[in-house]
Amino acid sequence: MVKMKTLTALKQQVADGNKLTVLTAYDATFAHRFSSLGVDIILVGDSLGMVIQGQDSTLPVTMEDMQYHMTAVARGNQGALLMADMPFNSYGTLEQCLANAGRLMQAGAHVVKLEGGAWLADQVVALSRAGIPTCLHLGLTPQSVNKFGGYKVQGRDDQAAQQMINDAITLVEAGADFILLECVPSALAKAITEAVSVPVIGIGAGKDTDAQVLVCYDMLGLTTHRLPRFVKNYMADNTNLDAAVSQYIDEVRSGAFPAPEHSYE
Ligand code: KIV
Repeated sequence: MVKMKTLTALKQQVADGNKLTVLTAYDATFAHRFSSLGVDIILVGDSLGMVIQGQDSTLPVTMEDMQYHMTAVARGNQGALLMADMPFNSYGTLEQCLANAGRLMQAGAHVVKLEGGAWLADQVVALSRAGIPTCLHLGLTPQSVNKFGGYKVQGRDDQAAQQMINDAITLVEAGADFILLECVPSALAKAITEAVSVPVIGIGAGKDTDAQVLVCYDMLGLTTHRLPRFVKNYMADNTNLDAAVSQYIDEVRSGAFPAPEHSYE
């Protein structure tokens, strides 16, 4: 019988001072390997639009795509907590948000992830009431790449930084179970991690968040496009996937990853 990592157990792990490990996966085989090796959370990210489908952005990913990959990951999972991205334009209204989050939960997700700030507080409240845990993605939110004008570090000036802190606090007060920060200066990520009572997952957010996530194809050195500075290729020093993922887990737990060269100061 596989022991499942629950939201409560992972929150306790963080309260006890232990870092959480997160990797993306999109199919049963990778989900089986990562969860068997001890990865705490598997994210079925809409990054699948880029790494699986070869698209230029995450925007073309549909609910049907997410359900398909979520179902496959759930079949292979050996105990990790499963988080699924709500794709672009699938959670604008409360009705749409509840219906689509329900579809992902029925496909096997334990938590749904939404990109955006305090304006999503009503969605978080509604999902919480419906028994659906949430992760709110702040900073560089790839679904808004057209608004940002590119994939750029966010929260660099004082006003933007304060806004991000306020957004995180509002979302946690509304019932968010996780915050995810992408591409933000390390000092801001540290401040947000200290300001909220839920686990904060970082990607390009420095070493002080409670958890780290990477896109699996990036950290396994399989991606062909130019990688952002926050990615470490764990296949560079390893000859097989198990050794690479085990090194990632060890380095996140010990705090060795991310190093300053993977962070924005
Ligand atoms: O879609 C995804 O894989 C993500 C991670 C980059 C955090 O949102």
